[in-house]
Amino acid sequence: MDPSRDNYVAANRAAWNDAAPHHRAGASFENLLTGFGTPGFSCLDAVASEVLRGLQPAGKAVAQLCCNNGREILSVGNLGAGLCVGFDQSGAFLAQARELAAAAKQDCRFVEGDVYRIGEEFDGAFDLVIVTIGVFGWMPDLGTFIGVAARLLRDGGAFFVYEQHPIMNMVEPADASDPHRLAHSYFKKEPFVEDNVIVYGDEVARKGVTHYWFVHTLADIFTSCLERGLRIEHFREYPHNISSAPYDIYDGRHAQLPQSYTLVARKGA
Ligand SMILES: C[S@@+](CC[C@H](N)C(=O)[O-])C[C@H]1O[C@@H](n2cnc3c(N)ncnc32)[C@H](O)[C@@H]1O
Repeated sequence: MDPSRDNYVAANRAAWNDAAPHHRAGASFENLLTGFGTPGFSCLDAVASEVLRGLQPAGKAVAQLCCNNGREILSVGNLGAGLCVGFDQSGAFLAQARELAAAAKQDCRFVEGDVYRIGEEFDGAFDLVIVTIGVFGWMPDLGTFIGVAARLLRDGGAFFVYEQHPIMNMVEPADASDPHRLAHSYFKKEPFVEDNVIVYGDEVARKGVTHYWFVHTLADIFTSCLERGLRIEHFREYPHNISSAPYDIYDGRHAQLPQSYTLVARKGA
């Protein structure tokens, strides 16, 4: 085992557990509870819904890596998926996921633990493995993480990714003087180190637990897929923000940055 990877993972687990009560107390969680009380509810946006529908999730076994409060895997469940399993190492967020699953009347399974250590019993168990919005950056070792996705898929299964575009790591939305300045290298090797409570909105930041965010270029992502037997069959870039609210300032510009992307990679064949 890589001790530095384990140390980063442990720090990030503590930071997410620390952030969980803030997310549970917010209006967006109450909206999700109410939403999942309605049959067929989905929190997925039009892009994710379209690409996922193209993968024909009905009746399929689906895993979500780093599922957080489960809102996305439960939405996939409402698209008619069969077995649904969400993996995350934050017990506090998985408690929220189980609340949402109860509201949705779904028997989605939630498994607590480091994704790098998901057990062999899940190998080849899934038709579809999904990763959405704000996951790759938490990974100290992207190649091994994508290897886990590949391991969980059956032959012919699909890996679906909907993520913030890595070029967005170059700017600082909180830079009041010039949020459009290129502040960081696209090829940054050392992680960003932050200690504010992890929030998605523009709430006043308060000190939390130190956590680590890693930059992975598109080449890192493509190469990691290809080296682990995942053949890329779809890749699209979009102008819209899918990350936290401060990045909304980069929407609708004349000189538009690519803010998000979808990728589908197929195991084998
Ligand atoms: C930004 S959240 C994902 C949010 C989700 N896509 C959504 O929109 O609700 C990232 C999640 O990754 C989880 N995570 C980070 N590193 C992990 C690891 N090594 N193993 C398992 N989960 C991890 C965190 O606990 C957190 O719940």
